[in-house]
Amino acid sequence: MDPLSPLNLVLPLAILLSSLLAPPAIAMPSIEEQAGALIAWKATLQSWDRKAWPCHSWRGIGCGARQGKFVITKISLRGMRLRGSLEVLNFSALTMLTSVDLSHNKLTGRIPWSEVGNLAILEDLRLGINKLSSSISNSIGNLAKLSVLILWGNQLSGHIPNNLGNLTKLSLLDLCHNQLSGHIPQELGYLVNLKGLRLCDNMLSGSIPNNLENLTKLTVLSLYKNQLSGHIPQELGYLVNLKNLSLYSNNFTGSIPNCLGNLTKLTDLALFENQFSRHISQELGSIPNSLGNLNKLYSINLVSNQLSGFIPQELGNLVNLEFLEISLNNLSGELPSGLCAASRLQNFTADHNSLVGPLPTSLLNCKTLVRVRLERNQLEGDISELGLHPNLVYIDMSSNKLFGQLSPRWGHIPPEIGSMVSLFNLSLANNLLHGNIPEELGSLQNLEYLDLSLNNLSGPIQGSIENCLKLQSLRLGHNHLGGSIPIKLGMLTYLQELLDLSDNSFAGIIPSQLSGLNMLEALNLSHNTLNGSIPPSFKGMISLSSMDVSYNNLEGPVPHIKFLEEAPVEWFVHNKHLCGTVKALPPCNLIQKGGKGKKFRPILLGVAAAAGISVLFITALVTWQRRKMKSVEQSENGAGNTKVFSVWNFDGGDVCKQSFEATENFNGTHCIGMGGNGSVYRAQLPTGEIFAVKKIHMTEDDELIFKREEDALMSIRHRNIVKLFGYCSAVHVKFLVYEYMDRGSLSRYLENHNTAIELDWMRRINIVKDVDNALSYIHHDCFAPIVHRDITSNNILLDLEFRACISDFGIAKILDVEASNCTKLAGTKGYLAPELAYTTRVTEKCDVYSFGVLVFELFMGCHPGDFLLSLSMAKESTTLKDLLDARLPLPEAETTSEIFRVIMAAVQCLDPNPLHRPTMLHVTRMFSTAEVHGNRDHLHADIIIPVFYQ
Ligand SMILES: *[C@@H]1O[C@H](CO)[C@@H](O)[C@H](O)[C@H]1NC(C)=O
Ligand SMILES: *[C@@H]1O[C@H](CO)[C@@H](O)[C@H](O)[C@H]1NC(C)=O
Ligand SMILES: *[C@@H]1O[C@H](CO)[C@@H](O)[C@H](O)[C@H]1NC(C)=O
Ligand SMILES: *[C@@H]1O[C@H](CO)[C@@H](O)[C@H](O)[C@H]1NC(C)=O
Ligand SMILES: *[C@@H]1O[C@H](CO)[C@@H](O)[C@H](O)[C@H]1NC(C)=O
Repeated sequence: MDPLSPLNLVLPLAILLSSLLAPPAIAMPSIEEQAGALIAWKATLQSWDRKAWPCHSWRGIGCGARQGKFVITKISLRGMRLRGSLEVLNFSALTMLTSVDLSHNKLTGRIPWSEVGNLAILEDLRLGINKLSSSISNSIGNLAKLSVLILWGNQLSGHIPNNLGNLTKLSLLDLCHNQLSGHIPQELGYLVNLKGLRLCDNMLSGSIPNNLENLTKLTVLSLYKNQLSGHIPQELGYLVNLKNLSLYSNNFTGSIPNCLGNLTKLTDLALFENQFSRHISQELGSIPNSLGNLNKLYSINLVSNQLSGFIPQELGNLVNLEFLEISLNNLSGELPSGLCAASRLQNFTADHNSLVGPLPTSLLNCKTLVRVRLERNQLEGDISELGLHPNLVYIDMSSNKLFGQLSPRWGHIPPEIGSMVSLFNLSLANNLLHGNIPEELGSLQNLEYLDLSLNNLSGPIQGSIENCLKLQSLRLGHNHLGGSIPIKLGMLTYLQELLDLSDNSFAGIIPSQLSGLNMLEALNLSHNTLNGSIPPSFKGMISLSSMDVSYNNLEGPVPHIKFLEEAPVEWFVHNKHLCGTVKALPPCNLIQKGGKGKKFRPILLGVAAAAGISVLFITALVTWQRRKMKSVEQSENGAGNTKVFSVWNFDGGDVCKQSFEATENFNGTHCIGMGGNGSVYRAQLPTGEIFAVKKIHMTEDDELIFKREEDALMSIRHRNIVKLFGYCSAVHVKFLVYEYMDRGSLSRYLENHNTAIELDWMRRINIVKDVDNALSYIHHDCFAPIVHRDITSNNILLDLEFRACISDFGIAKILDVEASNCTKLAGTKGYLAPELAYTTRVTEKCDVYSFGVLVFELFMGCHPGDFLLSLSMAKESTTLKDLLDARLPLPEAETTSEIFRVIMAAVQCLDPNPLHRPTMLHVTRMFSTAEVHGNRDHLHADIIIPVFYQ
């Protein structure tokens, strides 16, 4: 024994006190004997160290002191996974126990009652959830101090001993889930301190004792799942503290007594699965009106009885009622009018009765409903009035006389689903969902698996799911979805497992951008009305091992992919005319193929040698030549819409043509902006997709360079770079097709007062960060660093969410043949790095300078103009307040400090010496760290911006 243990310091006092208050002598073995009893038992269980002190270090053992000696008073080994027999435990050595809790273990054998019966001061005995067997002995009647007896969840059999009636201190008696049989002893009526009496799930028979009237403290009476019979005794009406009365699944008969109406604290009344019926003397019906007094009731379950007569109107008064279940009876008459008057009702089942009349208005508009069953009654009336029930998961109103229309809004996917931003797996397959797929689904940025197959969904899929960029599996089969297959699906580059669009009404061509899905293993486009050919670019889909395009209107050669050679013909049947590759398909016209290949080989080799262009580009050129040849045969008609050359990594001809039509041959009414090298038009295609189309002036030479670059340009995917989809060239016009950005250019936004104030400080800060991200990406993350060369507010575009994207990326370089050595000035005046006046070396630092200008423009609201001069010439300082766009209110302190940080970075970007300018990566770091020049703690709009230049 450790003499310094805290226990030793405290206990003597306790011993002293308790010896003064000690009860009359009980036979008391020595502590060694007590410990020995535990050890002997423990030997069959787990190890308590015999040498250690049981009161100090033995887990689950509690001690006290009696007559100056230590005694073990408490065993608390709940849920310790103890296995073994309880019989081995010698309770006769542990007579000082007041509390034993061995619940939730795997103890077997019988309870050693003769010894347990001698634990004269035991107050609490908990042996629930074990595997104890045999019966409860009469000697339990000796435990006069017992207040809690929990034996539920064992395999106890035999009768409940009458002697339990001696345990008048009992407040909780729980014998549920055993195999007890016989009657419930009358003697329980003496247990006036009982709060909980639970005898459920046994094999008890006979009736409920009719002398329970003194158990007025009872709050829970659970007798369900027995074979009890007879009437509910009137005496239960005195148990005024009862909250929970569960008598279900028995064989009770007679009426539900009126006196239950006295139990005003009742919350849960479960009488289902009995044989309650109408009492002969009751006039109105067999559900007593008095239940309407029980305004704490939240659940009434009377299902499966023989109740008849009317449902009392008074049930409509139960303002807390959430569950009302009265199915499978013989109830008649109308539903109470106030059923959901308190807007609480969730589950309402009244099916299989003889109810008549209309559905009460309160029920029709009951928004809280979750489950409703009213089938097999004679309810009548118009249900068109059924309101929205956002929580409803099940409703059955069949076999009635109801008519009218169900709200078409019932089957919708709620748009709120878009708020579940962490959702990664959503399966709503095989339901009756209809309507469009909500746009909001596109907000699920973490979604990896989406299954909406086997529903009645309709409409196009544009603008929703193609924005779920992390999708790995997309199943939309067996719906009524239509429109064209969105080009953007080709950007879901994580798609791997399956893309299933089968059995819908998708029309138009298969966008060859789908070939961007180069991890995709299975593609199912069958049973649609797709036309055109299978894009040759599909050759690049190296992971594909299954491709079903059957039942469409496809024609032309099947692209040569190795695995397709042996493909089952079922994947291709029922099309217009597919040929080649697949063994089971007819060969394609060999002459046509060979002729073209030969003719253009020299050109291809030449170009390839010069520029090392990609395979993709070769494909594009072949397409171009093919189209050129085709167009000779066709008559030219005006606007050049027949002679179309396009550089897409897919057959963009259609989009080119559609762009002509959508802009009415580049009619000014569709013009949305003018840039340095062309005008921009908004082109809304018949498919609903919107593109920005930039008409450009391009010479033949330009075109060649463009072709060399297009692969790189179109492969760039960054959140803050406007996507370039392709390039179209016809006789009179050449244009680039871009992602459409709803809010247009930053410069336009800043010019206009109304739009400028929409750009609050946080938005402007975010725009700066977006542009910084884009520039960091092209300078540092691309295959080879790329210089934009024309960063201006004109080339920053905003989408609906004010996301900023840089546009015209790379075009400046292409459209200015000489620009690569800088003999001609590219870029826009006012944003040009000063060194470009005397050097021909274009580096990323030119962009960094322009970025600096842009930052000032953004926060000043207009181009900084001469202010830039003053920054670089003089040693002038200015306050932030004087600088900031006066159209906006001054920023909050926190925002001010962030703006200050950004502007300080911009000042460094404007350093005349390119070598002193930070890189964009460095700029990013400056934004994210709190490292500022000046005292951060006192930042406000009066802060002075130091100027570093000498
Ligand atoms: C317990 O009650 C039974 C009858 O219910 C009685 O015969 C018996 O003497 C009582 N025992 C004790 C110890 O009070
Ligand atoms: C209930 O209590 C009353 C009053 O104390 C008493 O007269 C009656 O016998 C008790 N009933 C039972 C069943 O114990
Ligand atoms: C219920 O009582 C009826 C007769 O009253 C009997 O036939 C039936 O077996 C009983 N059911 C149970 C589960 O005790
Ligand atoms: C129920 O309450 C009424 C009035 O409060 C009373 O007259 C009646 O005796 C009570 N019935 C029972 C069984 O408690
Ligand atoms: C209510 O209905 C729902 C939906 O069917 C079900 O999951 C739930 O268990 C029911 N609740 C009650 C108390 O019956």
